[in-house]
Amino acid sequence: MTAPNPRKILVTSALPYANGSIHMGHMLEYIQTDIWVRFQKARGNECYYVCADDAHGTAIMLRAEKEGITAEEQIARVKAEHEADFADFQVAFDNFHSTHSEENRQFSEEIYKACRDKGHIAVRSIKQLYDPVKELFLADRYIKGECPKCGAADQYGDNCEVCGATYTPAELKNPYSVISGATPVEKESEHYFFKLPDFQEFLKDWTRSGTLQDEVANKLQEWLDSGLQEWDISRDAPYFGFEIPDAPGKYFYVWLDAPIGYMASFKNLCEKRGNIDFAEFWKKDSTAELYHFIGKDIINFHALFWPAMLSAADYRTPTAVNAHGFVTVNGAKMSKSRGTFIKARTYLNHLNPTYLRYYFAAKLGSSVDDFDLNLEDFVQKVNSDLVNKLVNIASRTANFVFKAGGTLTNECAEPDMLADFINAGDVIAEHYEKREFGRAMKEIMALADRANEYIQEKAPWAMNKEEGREQEVQDVCSVAINLFRQLITYLSPVLPEIAEKTAEFLNLESLSWEARREPLLGHSINKFKPMLPRAEMDKVSAILEETKGELEKEAGKAPDGKKDEKPAAKKDDKKSKKNKGPALREDGNEVIADTIEFPDFAKVDLRIARIVKADHVEGADKLLQLTLDIGNGETRNVFSGIKAAYNPEDLGGKLTVMVANLAPRQMKFGLSEGMVLAAGPGGSDIFLLEPHDGAQPGMRVM
Ligand code: 2FM
Ligand code: ZN
Repeated sequence: MTAPNPRKILVTSALPYANGSIHMGHMLEYIQTDIWVRFQKARGNECYYVCADDAHGTAIMLRAEKEGITAEEQIARVKAEHEADFADFQVAFDNFHSTHSEENRQFSEEIYKACRDKGHIAVRSIKQLYDPVKELFLADRYIKGECPKCGAADQYGDNCEVCGATYTPAELKNPYSVISGATPVEKESEHYFFKLPDFQEFLKDWTRSGTLQDEVANKLQEWLDSGLQEWDISRDAPYFGFEIPDAPGKYFYVWLDAPIGYMASFKNLCEKRGNIDFAEFWKKDSTAELYHFIGKDIINFHALFWPAMLSAADYRTPTAVNAHGFVTVNGAKMSKSRGTFIKARTYLNHLNPTYLRYYFAAKLGSSVDDFDLNLEDFVQKVNSDLVNKLVNIASRTANFVFKAGGTLTNECAEPDMLADFINAGDVIAEHYEKREFGRAMKEIMALADRANEYIQEKAPWAMNKEEGREQEVQDVCSVAINLFRQLITYLSPVLPEIAEKTAEFLNLESLSWEARREPLLGHSINKFKPMLPRAEMDKVSAILEETKGELEKEAGKAPDGKKDEKPAAKKDDKKSKKNKGPALREDGNEVIADTIEFPDFAKVDLRIARIVKADHVEGADKLLQLTLDIGNGETRNVFSGIKAAYNPEDLGGKLTVMVANLAPRQMKFGLSEGMVLAAGPGGSDIFLLEPHDGAQPGMRVM
């Protein structure tokens, strides 16, 4: 059913990279967006949801090479996998395209040329590290070496994972290319820059015009106040992407054509459908609405570069950019070794997607706060809300109606209560519209409680045993089924499969929001079939086990997929600190992280540990291998860059403090399962923190 004045709305989620699997961190965003889109459609708006694979860049080129296939084959393979994952989670895109498409090439060239012709492109030479064997320029993540501060081996080109220092790749000692092992050399080449500072004033207004969440706008304000930098939009061959017009051997950087992929996917949809006007959605001053749902790590690309490029090319800018936080599992960053780096497919192998959709909705708000998927709470909440409360309403009453002929009563025995349920739809709709899904779920569950109280009080199963009360039984059960129908209408954006089963059970074509105003009177229904089994904790355990197994399979593979994982937190990088402007990182890392909030600090699990054993590590100049007793019979293996300061023989029996929930890292010498805390300038002046004797292994440090 179409609303009287349907809004025209185009919605996108961030485009997943075509070189990795979809995991729980991604799913939060796609489910959040899908719920919002389904809500808009249920309200009768003309709403389209488009997405695509983000198919360009060095990582995809190298991955294909490693697999012995072409980049095109690689992206086709991953696209099929991604599409299956989304479909099985009931994420219903109107179109899922690829940034490696003709539409995207055309729009990228057009937008670039408009920027160039208006003087917003600068060309100049820059020096970068180059792999002389592989003959390509190396992004920071493809260079490793010894940390210039603590000397730890095998550290990436931007920060040290042992001591936390940040630096530039040129500062690494004994650097080597992760791709070929060669020593990188400095080489100069011409690069193309988008002159973001030209848009300073425009962006000051745009970021304050209601397009962004307050916390995001405030962060951007700081950057805007300290001045913007030009953005490097070119990469030298070999690169998998689009060649820049009139610049042979130069390619658009993947982040230039990625957001343009939103337009390209929509254009492709318009071509397929034939009845949607592309220009109506993208022309300057369009009255259609455009929303991008993204993670908070890629705000700079969507709230600075993207609106600037669009305005330069005389296209409309987004109505709003909706950012969400990162997913943690059981209060900690998703971790492969703990089995919590859960892929979409691994989840689907064991559990019904309805559970996750509901749990995300129940706990999501409109802020950029991180989302904790607490696995015990998850099982408990979906069982208590969906199985015990919701489905129970129909399963306890439907049979009495069905057995008596399957027709609901001609009049509603509780018109006031039904009217309350119908009216509640307006408040619930407001919550959905504002992406306050948690509030919407609370309202709906409060109604479900009311419906259950009513059924419990009337107890139709008891009435049914008494003669002469047949009509009363039908009255009560018909009320219950009408209430159930209201609840499922409100939940249909979150639980599309349950909504479909309910439409079939109730003999309804759809459960549109508007249609709820017509009660089901004298209406025939079908036999009720079970809708949702209980969620079981042992299935969750099976997911964790399967995920750990995946890690074992992956062990030994080159770490070039490192940055494919969405970062769950970021250390600010040195370059951005120096410049004070936005962190223009190649991989679009998190940008809101100058200070941490207390809840973030509270996530750090600091524990007293006893050093049971300390050993030299063969081949490592700076590291010692520590075996730590952290209480409750648990031991951890940790590599620590303290060799210059301590003899391993002196360490046995000492107490120290460790970060117990740091995600384990696969190092050259083995798996490091945490970090010990030390202080000092480095070298031989490093002092392990040694709590006094009252402390016992396993105690929390507060
Ligand atoms: O961070 C990422 O996973 C990117 N592939 C998102 C791109 S979103 C858009 F701009 F294309
Ligand atoms: Zn270091």
